[in-house]
Amino acid sequence: MISKHTETAEGWIALEDQYSSGVAPKQPIVLSRGEGARLWDVEGTEYVDCSSGHGVANIGHANPAVIKAIVQQAGMLVTAPNDFYNNQRAQLLSELVRIAPYGLERAFLCNSGAEAVEGAIKFARLATSRTKIISTMRGFHGRTLGALSATWNKSYRKPFEPLVPDFEFTPYNQLEQIERVVDEETAAVILEAVQGEGGVFLGEEEFLTGVQTLCRANGALLIIDEVQSGFGRTGKMFASEHYNLEPDLMTVAKGIAGGVPMGAVLIGPRVGDLPKKVHGSTFGGNALACAAALATIKFIESEDLPRRAAELGEQLMDGLRAIDSPVVREVRGLGLMVGMQLKTRAGKYLAKLAEPVNGLGVLALTAGSTVMRFLPPLVISKEDVDLVVNRVEKVLKD
Ligand SMILES: Cc1ncc(COP(=O)(O)O)c(C=O)c1O
Repeated sequence: MISKHTETAEGWIALEDQYSSGVAPKQPIVLSRGEGARLWDVEGTEYVDCSSGHGVANIGHANPAVIKAIVQQAGMLVTAPNDFYNNQRAQLLSELVRIAPYGLERAFLCNSGAEAVEGAIKFARLATSRTKIISTMRGFHGRTLGALSATWNKSYRKPFEPLVPDFEFTPYNQLEQIERVVDEETAAVILEAVQGEGGVFLGEEEFLTGVQTLCRANGALLIIDEVQSGFGRTGKMFASEHYNLEPDLMTVAKGIAGGVPMGAVLIGPRVGDLPKKVHGSTFGGNALACAAALATIKFIESEDLPRRAAELGEQLMDGLRAIDSPVVREVRGLGLMVGMQLKTRAGKYLAKLAEPVNGLGVLALTAGSTVMRFLPPLVISKEDVDLVVNRVEKVLKD
């Protein structure tokens, strides 16, 4: 129940703690407003956002172009079921195919990253009439049962076993290892071109293109999961473009619709025709989310956010690499998907980073237990990137 006492940070925290499932570990900050790469909590403390809501807010918080599109569409039509056509959906489908890597020619619209992964797994099994799915160690693909079956972290998987059968894991970036497991019974290989949650590990070109060749040779499909790396994050519209990959299925979500929940599976010709009714989603491709996504894609292109991510990513990584601290093992990343691997657990440093100095804190993420992960909105300013580097240096040295 909301009372006068609730309307403090402590009050909101107590209310959420009392009524939420409790499955999400939380920092004691109550966010209430955002603009660009800045966030504010209910007490007015300001933060430079290097989390983007787990990589969602690529075009910045409260982006005016997306607000306008959402308001306009909300006044026209919010939901348009998939058994009718819709003008917003038709436009978005064609736009997704236009910006996607070569060969992807259709899309299935859904509501989240995990749902996109579920769809891709189902389409791969259907298209090949095979069941075996190869995933990679440290890979993260979501928490629903199919997506979880492809997710490496044992602590996420163990409590829910038995999961979907016929999933196998192989080491990332080791071509000779994956060559041993992909065969004529394999439906698909699923992997991230840059592993995000697993610790920000970049795929090596030889590995990724080798996996693509291996899939083709065995009649298996290649699923590239771009849920985190898509929509400009890595310095290209999609990370697959850094490696000239031509996935058969590509999953996207997070940054697709400026923060409105949405996901999509992009589908290539080797998938073939999908029979009617084999898959579906009530909310998938609703007109509101489609309008938000169309405005988001337009903004990413008109502001050339991939180029901005490439430039500011270099600035951020150069700055972080210049920090002389015995705690740091390595800084790695692609565009504005950046990880700082520490020799110790990252959580306490992130909590320190969030503490406001002169009314301003910095919010970042972990990736695994020892990596500080930086996924700022791609609209972040150069000055804010410098500020983040200075704050990280201070926190590591104190
Ligand atoms: C690569 C990747 N795939 C899938 C997912 C799952 O997305 P969602 O949380 O929207 O279900 C994530 C989420 O972090 C992700 O990073």
